[in-house]
Amino acid sequence: MSDQKAIQERTLAELGATAPDAISARFAELRSGFDHRVDLLSAGDLAGWTALRNAWLGRASGVITAIGDNWLKPATPEQKRIVGKALNELKAHVERTLEELRALAEAAGDAGTTSAGGVDLSLPGVQRPLGTRHPLRQTIEELERIFLSIGFSVVEGPEIETPYYNFEALNIPEHHPARDTMDTFYLSLPSRAAATASEALPPRAATAGSNKQMASPELLLRTHTSPMQIHTMERQKPPVRIIVPGRCYRRDNPDSTHSFAFHQIEGLAVDTDITFCEFKGTCEYFVREFLGPKTRTRLRPSYFPFTEPSAEVDASCFACDGRGCRICKHAGWIELFGAGMVDPAVYGYVNYDAKRLSGFAFGMGVERMAMMRYGINDIQLFYQNDVRFLRQFE
Ligand code: PHE
Repeated sequence: MSDQKAIQERTLAELGATAPDAISARFAELRSGFDHRVDLLSAGDLAGWTALRNAWLGRASGVITAIGDNWLKPATPEQKRIVGKALNELKAHVERTLEELRALAEAAGDAGTTSAGGVDLSLPGVQRPLGTRHPLRQTIEELERIFLSIGFSVVEGPEIETPYYNFEALNIPEHHPARDTMDTFYLSLPSRAAATASEALPPRAATAGSNKQMASPELLLRTHTSPMQIHTMERQKPPVRIIVPGRCYRRDNPDSTHSFAFHQIEGLAVDTDITFCEFKGTCEYFVREFLGPKTRTRLRPSYFPFTEPSAEVDASCFACDGRGCRICKHAGWIELFGAGMVDPAVYGYVNYDAKRLSGFAFGMGVERMAMMRYGINDIQLFYQNDVRFLRQFE
């Protein structure tokens, strides 16, 4: 614009443009001024584009508004028709041109971000990396579903235990070699806190149990979910049919199959008429539900201090159907979990009548079941919370 007052700031009368031709000439002058500014604008100059739009279309002081105020309003009725029409045309031209420029800048992509303070509206938004329900949680829920369907209920128990519940009441006395495989973390709490914590635990077995032991002030992180066998039988009369999902701890060094914290699901069924037959039938039902109807079950003799007889429950390999492959290390069978008939000595700790009652128990590693089922070869993947791993379990 020149140093004298811009033409849109003066009236048509002041400009001496009252005849239709003169009016049209003034509009043509404005239009070519605008086109000139557009030519000077470089592609993607967002700041320049914004300034141009404000100068022409700004509501308070834009050129279009000024012409409405200074040219249109004071005009005579005949002039108004000409001015109104020309103004509409000019406004449409300015709007259309600015819109085209904006679309061009957007299409130019990166070019749109180059100028100072430029924002490229065509870039994708920020996506938060969402995971999924954790595969361990999904596995626990699947295991729960299977046992709930045959009358078991789900209970949970404390991760902090006394040696009595974790070992002694499960028929594992202090110097028993079975403790070596279950080294754990002992807690040294300030003495008052420790006293409160052990008071909070349920009372010891009544005197009728000849196996009753003295309480130990020590606290530890449970090495298995089996202590909940004892807690449950202390609290409730038979029949008992429970499963216990939960976190356990062992002083193991981390590698692809070991972790200092992991998960188990315990099972316990005690009643007046439970035989080895029910035990085996339950195992077979579980294996077929979890791994498919064609899977076969095998019981192998084993040893646990709190079950007698004890067994390792194996399933025919789901990958090769028992023919032998890398997954089952050419054995045709995969070891699933430890189990057995409850050792009558355990009933002595919970004041159950060992002559009248019988039952079975099992304890399975949740990680192991999930790894086998999904073909995961490193237990550490469960704990790293990498969404690239988690998203495979949608
Ligand atoms: N608690 C045993 C373990 O962690 C598993 C088990 C549970 C075995 C119940 C038999 C019965 O190794």
